[in-house]
Amino acid sequence: MPVRSKVKKADVKKTLFTIQFPTLDEYVVLKKRITTPVYPKDAASIVSLLDLHPHARVLDAGTGNGSLTLYLARALHPSGHVHSVDKSALHLSHAKHNVERFARGLYLPTISFSHGKLSSVLNSLPSDAPLYDGAALDMPTPWSELESVFKRLKNDKYVVCYLPNITQVLECMKEIERKGLAFAVEQVLEINWRPWDIKRTVIRGSMRDSTDEKLVDKPWLRTSEHGENGSSEKSVENNDSSANVGEEEEVKHEQCQNVVKEGNAEYEENGDLEVATPRDPENAAQESQAASVVSDARAWICRPGHPPTEHTAFLLQLRKKEYSPDNIIELETPNKQNRFLILQ
Ligand SMILES: C[S@@+](CC[C@H](N)C(=O)[O-])C[C@H]1O[C@@H](n2cnc3c(N)ncnc32)[C@H](O)[C@@H]1O
Repeated sequence: MPVRSKVKKADVKKTLFTIQFPTLDEYVVLKKRITTPVYPKDAASIVSLLDLHPHARVLDAGTGNGSLTLYLARALHPSGHVHSVDKSALHLSHAKHNVERFARGLYLPTISFSHGKLSSVLNSLPSDAPLYDGAALDMPTPWSELESVFKRLKNDKYVVCYLPNITQVLECMKEIERKGLAFAVEQVLEINWRPWDIKRTVIRGSMRDSTDEKLVDKPWLRTSEHGENGSSEKSVENNDSSANVGEEEEVKHEQCQNVVKEGNAEYEENGDLEVATPRDPENAAQESQAASVVSDARAWICRPGHPPTEHTAFLLQLRKKEYSPDNIIELETPNKQNRFLILQ
């Protein structure tokens, strides 16, 4: 069956389904899970914070459902490698199954799985095993594993810990201090994706009274500042900008709703409607007048989605910063304007 085909259930009149490949985000969110996965917004950020390159070898612990494992493998496929470790055999086999089932197992060759407590697995590696280019830790007490991860990480590379609450962030920082680990705390981030609803709105109803003017000529729908299509255009362009814009749109939306109530008009949130439908269909004159208003009164409603995304985790980005006397390089002609030294 070709992708994007429409499928209809024989016994249901109207319902149409579309056949499509699941994205990795959809797969992670919708697939059956046995432990909390790293969600797409955090997984994408972890991949970025680890500053990966195509040949990188990355440590991933714990494997859990294999969600983050898949994001890492997708970033590194086909030339890099993900070493995924979990102390639970059940979780490991569930994760392997998930990896096999996504994209027909495309990323399986990029991943190796190890069973055991992270420190035990790392301590059992041969001494000449290559060091990791990065490590992602998602487990209840990552601070207890930081020392063994530190030993197996290349200098100047990153560890990112996924931590549900700020107390755990502090635990990690205290452990770094207690053990004197040469980690720089680069960033503590809470990642928020703020979805917006953008909907075509047709103003319809018995709108020939003064409310018509109010609604059609409302500055948030049609002003020179906001362009021909009204404020919505601006808000779409700015949907990642300051909270003020969001608040402003929110207020406007409230105002729109007020007008609807006052004016006895309706919004049809779909956009397929072209023609006004008056509240009182018996009144033909009213109908035609309303239709002419509607042709002018199409608008967009743009507002932050409800409910807002919930807190999932903090990301603690650590960077290994081991110094030795050999690391100190004296420059004959230091150029103070260059912030970065390119090491050959
Ligand atoms: C929240 S889940 C990880 C979810 C996973 N990152 C994902 O995206 O699907 C935490 C996992 O860490 C494992 N774990 C906890 N402590 C561990 C340790 N010290 N060494 C290895 N795995 C550990 C647990 O068995 C569990 O599967």
